[in-house]
Amino acid sequence: MKLLCEGISRRFFRNGKNTNFFNAVEKTFFELPEGAVTEIVGRSGSGKTTFANILSGLLTPTEGVLLIDGVDFFSLPDEKRSQFRNKNIGIVPQGQTGLSSLTVLENVLAPAFMYGDGKEKESLAKELLSQMDLFELCDVYSNELSGGELRRMSIARALINSPKIIIADEPTGDLDDDTTRLVLSLFRKKADEGASVLIVTHEHDALQYADQIYRMEKGVLSKEG
Ligand SMILES: Nc1ncnc2c1ncn2[C@@H]1O[C@H](COP(=O)(O)OP(=O)(O)OP(=O)(O)O)[C@@H](O)[C@H]1O
Ligand SMILES: [Mg+2]
Repeated sequence: MKLLCEGISRRFFRNGKNTNFFNAVEKTFFELPEGAVTEIVGRSGSGKTTFANILSGLLTPTEGVLLIDGVDFFSLPDEKRSQFRNKNIGIVPQGQTGLSSLTVLENVLAPAFMYGDGKEKESLAKELLSQMDLFELCDVYSNELSGGELRRMSIARALINSPKIIIADEPTGDLDDDTTRLVLSLFRKKADEGASVLIVTHEHDALQYADQIYRMEKGVLSKEG
């Protein structure tokens, strides 16, 4: 699935002593190709998460159009949009997320249950959890997990519906070197199988897994090299 950004920007209102509007993401044209790993690097506060959230369909842009396989994503009605996102876009958010009243296995299966095929996906969920080295924590409540374990759980959850688009915001930020390699090679494999993969990263090691690298600087995205 091809994802295309046409003139997308995002304006925020900064609510402080001196309130003012500013563009967290300036007008951007960008394409996320199929079968490739694209990475975005850049300093803290430069607009990477804001941009990733727009591409994930979680945050509406102030202007511009997001085309997914030619469909104007933000013009879809709310329900269609979340259905489409749930089915086709695997999102690893920057913050820690997990439903604490659910076990690790149930958390991973949650996106699948939205379609009612959660039961059939149980073996896939367990396989993903094994790949993330979390199998023995399947039945533990997610509020008992460490930061890195939660991160790995959210990676398994992002992959449960075999998404054609994967958007991961600093997915290895709190992981050790070996686990980082494990996660990045899994994303690499998904891209080789045809997925469009976007990784926001600070990690130097991550760069060797990328087919193309962009840098975000004060809301301006430009291609590296
Ligand atoms: N909801 C919001 N309202 C107002 N300002 C916001 C909001 N979200 C983000 N910002 C501001 O937009 C800018 C970009 O934030 P963003 O989270 O996109 O940065 P980032 O590049 O992901 O940073 P980091 O590497 O620290 O995660 C920051 O200055 C931030 O304070
Ligand atoms: Mg961020």
